[in-house]
Amino acid sequence: MQIISSPSEMRAVCRAYQRGATQQTIGLVPTMGALHEGHLSLIRASRQRCDRTVVSIFVNPLQFGPAEDLAQYPRTFQQDCAMLEQEGVDLLFAPSPEEMYPPTSETIVDVPVTGARLDGASRPGHFRGVATVVAKLFNIVQPDCAFFGEKDAAQVAVLRKMVRDLNFDLDLIVCPTVREPSKLAMSSRNRYLSEGERVEAEALSRSLRLVADVVRQGEHRTQVIRETLRKELTHSGRLKVDYAELVDPYTLETLKADKLPAETLVAVAAWIGTTRLIDNCTLRIDEAGE
Ligand code: PAJ
Repeated sequence: MQIISSPSEMRAVCRAYQRGATQQTIGLVPTMGALHEGHLSLIRASRQRCDRTVVSIFVNPLQFGPAEDLAQYPRTFQQDCAMLEQEGVDLLFAPSPEEMYPPTSETIVDVPVTGARLDGASRPGHFRGVATVVAKLFNIVQPDCAFFGEKDAAQVAVLRKMVRDLNFDLDLIVCPTVREPSKLAMSSRNRYLSEGERVEAEALSRSLRLVADVVRQGEHRTQVIRETLRKELTHSGRLKVDYAELVDPYTLETLKADKLPAETLVAVAAWIGTTRLIDNCTLRIDEAGE
């Protein structure tokens, strides 16, 4: 696996893949490292679909608020490289903050409406940082496909909007959430949890499963579903709920209707001690209202 830190070198290698005699397609998997099975599932999806798979590891300072965990964010570069080698990744892009954001750079990408909802509301500026770094990665790599996890559903909504608004010529592919056997969604931040907190964190996925069951049994009243969700999340009294919302999956706008529409994103974020975790599920109701 080739490891590159310079954006211009990265650009040259990617162009050579695409313009060489074999005209290879590129799949890009952007990450912040501390890799786990969730990241690897995106890499496997890319390997299936594209000739070359490019992974980026960059803990993007622009998407962390001043009081957030940028300094503590887990950095496990050697271990990450071993995992990427094992997965057959061709190229790793691991720039320094200075290479990504030279002191003269000032342009940012903002998705101001969608990007101010859910995590964008609790973490002001977060999605501006995400959209800016992902736009830069898209411009450097110019991938045919880019792979993102459904686990970060608000991020997916923001990036979908950015791809459409800025006419990026690529397919944005969304992969299902990979979970621990306990159903806790895998996350680099799970490393922050103590054993006891790990058990408490299971309330996030449990509340989503409960809501999906209730809807499957025919409950379509949004108010009842919202209350069921919040009650289960707060049941133990040990989680501090940041948000627990029923929203439109594409605009992230809070549902106003009394009854569930065809597709609803149920998104939750909660603090377990000093760790903030998120999870979500999508509820789909067919035309017959089942
Ligand atoms: P990071 O949290 O490292 O996640 C990288 C990618 O892995 C994201 O698309 C995320 O949704 C996906 N992912 C994380 N946990 C997952 C899981 N349990 N199952 C499936 N996919 C999962 O998200 C970011 O980094 C950054 O915001 C980034 C897009 C790289 C921009 O800096």
